[in-house]
Amino acid sequence: MELPHIIKFPKICDPRGNLTFVQDNCQVPFDIRRVYWVYDVPGDSLRGSHSHRATVECIIAVSGCFDVTLHDGTNEQTFTLRLPNEGLLVPPGYWRTLQNFSSGAVCMVLASLPYDEDDYIRDFDTFMKR
Ligand code: TYD
Repeated sequence: MELPHIIKFPKICDPRGNLTFVQDNCQVPFDIRRVYWVYDVPGDSLRGSHSHRATVECIIAVSGCFDVTLHDGTNEQTFTLRLPNEGLLVPPGYWRTLQNFSSGAVCMVLASLPYDEDDYIRDFDTFMKR
Protein backbone atom coordinates (compact mmCIF):
# COMPACT_ATOMS: atom_id res chain seq x y z
CA MET A 1 0.00 0.00 0.00
CA GLU A 2 1.12 3.52 -0.74
CA LEU A 3 2.22 6.11 1.77
CA PRO A 4 -0.24 8.71 3.09
CA HIS A 5 -0.67 11.48 0.58
CA ILE A 6 -2.99 14.22 -0.59
CA ILE A 7 -5.32 13.37 -3.47
CA LYS A 8 -6.62 16.23 -5.61
CA PHE A 9 -10.23 15.80 -6.71
CA PRO A 10 -11.78 17.35 -9.80
CA LYS A 11 -13.12 20.86 -9.21
CA ILE A 12 -15.75 22.20 -11.58
CA CYS A 13 -15.50 25.96 -11.09
CA ASP A 14 -18.72 27.85 -11.67
CA PRO A 15 -19.91 31.32 -10.72
CA ARG A 16 -23.00 29.54 -9.30
CA GLY A 17 -20.74 27.59 -6.92
CA ASN A 18 -18.05 24.98 -7.32
CA LEU A 19 -18.57 21.23 -7.55
CA THR A 20 -16.32 18.28 -6.68
CA PHE A 21 -17.03 14.60 -7.14
CA VAL A 22 -15.62 11.16 -6.48
CA GLN A 23 -16.67 8.37 -8.80
CA ASP A 24 -15.85 4.66 -8.93
CA ASN A 25 -12.09 4.12 -8.51
CA CYS A 26 -11.09 7.18 -10.53
CA GLN A 27 -10.20 9.40 -7.59
CA VAL A 28 -9.48 7.04 -4.69
CA PRO A 29 -7.53 3.76 -5.05
CA PHE A 30 -10.16 1.55 -3.36
CA ASP A 31 -13.83 0.63 -3.65
CA ILE A 32 -15.80 2.91 -1.36
CA ARG A 33 -17.81 0.69 1.00
CA ARG A 34 -18.73 3.32 3.59
CA VAL A 35 -18.98 7.08 3.98
CA TYR A 36 -19.24 8.84 7.34
CA TRP A 37 -18.85 12.40 8.44
CA VAL A 38 -18.03 14.15 11.70
CA TYR A 39 -19.41 17.62 12.45
CA ASP A 40 -20.32 19.99 15.30
CA VAL A 41 -16.86 19.27 16.70
CA PRO A 42 -15.84 21.61 19.56
CA GLY A 43 -12.58 23.42 18.78
CA ASP A 44 -10.78 21.73 21.68
CA SER A 45 -11.93 18.19 20.78
CA LEU A 46 -9.68 15.36 19.76
CA ARG A 47 -11.16 12.80 17.35
CA GLY A 48 -9.69 9.61 15.99
CA SER A 49 -6.96 8.29 18.29
CA HIS A 50 -6.95 4.89 16.71
CA SER A 51 -5.43 2.82 13.93
CA HIS A 52 -7.07 0.45 11.46
CA ARG A 53 -5.84 -3.06 10.75
CA ALA A 54 -7.23 -3.22 7.20
CA THR A 55 -9.43 -0.22 6.37
CA VAL A 56 -8.09 2.39 3.96
CA GLU A 57 -9.61 5.83 4.42
CA CYS A 58 -9.66 9.11 2.56
CA ILE A 59 -10.29 12.07 4.86
CA ILE A 60 -11.80 15.23 3.38
CA ALA A 61 -12.48 18.65 4.94
CA VAL A 62 -15.68 19.30 3.00
CA SER A 63 -16.13 22.45 5.09
CA GLY A 64 -13.76 24.37 7.37
CA CYS A 65 -10.39 22.98 8.37
CA PHE A 66 -8.68 20.65 10.84
CA ASP A 67 -5.35 18.89 11.37
CA VAL A 68 -4.74 15.16 10.88
CA THR A 69 -1.63 13.74 12.55
CA LEU A 70 -0.44 10.34 11.34
CA HIS A 71 1.97 8.15 13.30
CA ASP A 72 3.48 5.06 11.67
CA GLY A 73 5.08 3.74 14.86
CA THR A 74 8.27 5.72 14.27
CA ASN A 75 7.50 9.01 12.57
CA GLU A 76 4.71 11.52 12.88
CA GLN A 77 3.39 13.79 10.16
CA THR A 78 0.66 16.43 10.35
CA PHE A 79 -1.55 17.46 7.42
CA THR A 80 -3.81 20.49 7.59
CA LEU A 81 -6.92 19.85 5.52
CA ARG A 82 -8.78 22.95 4.36
CA LEU A 83 -9.75 22.39 0.70
CA PRO A 84 -12.97 20.57 -0.19
CA ASN A 85 -11.38 19.35 -3.43
CA GLU A 86 -8.61 17.38 -1.76
CA GLY A 87 -8.45 14.34 0.51
CA LEU A 88 -5.82 12.66 2.65
CA LEU A 89 -5.32 9.00 1.77
CA VAL A 90 -4.58 7.03 4.96
CA PRO A 91 -3.48 3.41 4.47
CA PRO A 92 -4.05 0.92 7.31
CA GLY A 93 -1.49 0.87 10.11
CA TYR A 94 -1.38 4.59 10.86
CA TRP A 95 -2.40 5.97 14.25
CA ARG A 96 -4.46 9.06 13.42
CA THR A 97 -5.57 11.99 15.54
CA LEU A 98 -7.80 14.78 14.27
CA GLN A 99 -7.80 18.12 16.08
CA ASN A 100 -7.96 21.92 15.80
CA PHE A 101 -11.37 21.82 14.12
CA SER A 102 -12.52 25.22 12.91
CA SER A 103 -16.04 26.36 13.61
CA GLY A 104 -18.45 24.62 11.23
CA ALA A 105 -15.83 22.12 10.01
CA VAL A 106 -17.16 18.92 8.46
CA CYS A 107 -14.84 15.91 8.16
CA MET A 108 -16.06 13.43 5.57
CA VAL A 109 -14.38 10.04 5.36
CA LEU A 110 -14.50 7.55 2.47
CA ALA A 111 -13.69 4.07 3.76
CA SER A 112 -12.75 0.84 2.00
CA LEU A 113 -14.64 -1.44 4.44
CA PRO A 114 -17.87 -1.44 6.43
CA TYR A 115 -17.66 -0.50 10.10
CA ASP A 116 -16.14 -3.29 12.20
CA GLU A 117 -14.87 -2.62 15.69
CA ASP A 118 -12.44 -5.56 15.32
CA ASP A 119 -10.62 -3.55 12.64
CA TYR A 120 -9.69 -0.88 15.21
CA ILE A 121 -6.66 -0.60 17.47
CA ARG A 122 -7.73 1.96 20.04
CA ASP A 123 -4.87 1.57 22.53
CA PHE A 124 -1.66 3.40 21.61
CA ASP A 125 0.63 0.95 23.45
CA THR A 126 -0.99 -1.97 21.61
CA PHE A 127 -0.48 -0.05 18.36
CA MET A 128 3.22 0.50 19.14
CA LYS A 129 3.73 -3.19 20.04
CA ARG A 130 1.95 -4.60 16.98
P1 TYD B 1 -15.13 6.67 16.82
O1 TYD B 1 -14.39 5.65 16.01
O2 TYD B 1 -14.82 6.76 18.28
O3 TYD B 1 -14.96 8.11 16.18
P2 TYD B 1 -13.58 8.80 15.76
O4 TYD B 1 -13.69 9.01 14.29
O5 TYD B 1 -13.44 10.05 16.51
O6 TYD B 1 -12.50 7.83 16.09
O7 TYD B 1 -16.67 6.37 16.61
C1 TYD B 1 -17.65 6.91 17.47
C2 TYD B 1 -18.81 5.93 17.57
O8 TYD B 1 -19.43 5.78 16.30
C3 TYD B 1 -18.36 4.55 18.01
O9 TYD B 1 -19.34 4.07 18.93
C4 TYD B 1 -18.41 3.73 16.76
C5 TYD B 1 -19.49 4.41 15.94
N1 TYD B 1 -19.29 4.29 14.50
C6 TYD B 1 -20.18 3.56 13.74
O10 TYD B 1 -21.16 2.97 14.26
N2 TYD B 1 -20.00 3.48 12.39
C7 TYD B 1 -18.96 4.09 11.77
O11 TYD B 1 -18.82 4.00 10.51
C8 TYD B 1 -18.02 4.84 12.57
C9 TYD B 1 -16.86 5.53 11.94
C10 TYD B 1 -18.23 4.92 13.92
